[in-house]
Amino acid sequence: MTDRYLVVGNPIAQSRSPQIHSLFAEQTGEALSYESKLVELDGFEAAAKKFFSEGGRGMNITMPFKEDAYRFADRLSAGAQIAGAVNTLAASEDGEIIGHNTDAAGLIADIERQGKVITHQRVLVLGAGGAVRGILEPMLKLGPKELVIANRTHEKAQQLAKGFAGYGSIRSCPLDALLDGAGSEAFDLVINGTSTSLAGASLELPAGILVPSSLCYDMVYAAQPTAFMQWALSQGASASDGLGMLVGQAAESFRIWRGVSPDFVNVIATLRSDMLNGQT
Ligand code: ATR
Repeated sequence: MTDRYLVVGNPIAQSRSPQIHSLFAEQTGEALSYESKLVELDGFEAAAKKFFSEGGRGMNITMPFKEDAYRFADRLSAGAQIAGAVNTLAASEDGEIIGHNTDAAGLIADIERQGKVITHQRVLVLGAGGAVRGILEPMLKLGPKELVIANRTHEKAQQLAKGFAGYGSIRSCPLDALLDGAGSEAFDLVINGTSTSLAGASLELPAGILVPSSLCYDMVYAAQPTAFMQWALSQGASASDGLGMLVGQAAESFRIWRGVSPDFVNVIATLRSDMLNGQT
């Protein structure tokens, strides 16, 4: 029987994961099926139990079930443990369900694909919610010169900076005091992990935090540049949306499940052209 994989979420219709994984399967010659399923808000555990008891090999988990998946896993990878959230479940040979979080690997792979390094660089992370929590430890492990977390509610950024202080050079600053709080040097990399782009809102950011070589990376993706990306471009810096992160996290899930690393660059190009042509 073909190995079965599934992505669950609520909503789920927007998910590009089935398309991405079928492109990976085609590219690597792996025989598998990958479907999507809408799960009721209180139905994650029942849906996951059913899927794995019927022989399912792996599951991706999107909003709002990443914490349910964290609780569901029999064992957790170190990254998932630290993130407190799971986006990938894998059935092991002995029937245990292992929880992983591949979001940060996807983000880092995409930043590197764009020719940027994190090591010895000044990094600014905007936001202090779940999306940010999962990327802090893997980024700190790469040894940035400094990582500053700026958030509208400073207290949340302070808590994260305190919690992750053991992994590297990290500190917090209130979003509205970025220029005073962040020091006089510009940032090499600015990552938007707030939900403003999803809400179609913009952030008030001071011009002085960028130089022309800075990359501003929005963790969400869209056919049109987000307000954050437009701001970066207007400052003469580079801007990226999170489409490559989406494909990169899927590639890491695929590697965990199948032991083969797909080439994600071509898949990003296919999705980008579908998006621009309004096909998806
Ligand atoms: P997620 O789990 O997707 O990260 P979240 O936990 O709701 O979602 O976090 C959303 C993040 O976006 C928070 O950092 C939030 O700032 P607050 O902690 O102050 O709420 C940030 N955010 C949302 N709307 C914002 C806005 N209009 N301006 C600035 N930050 C905003």
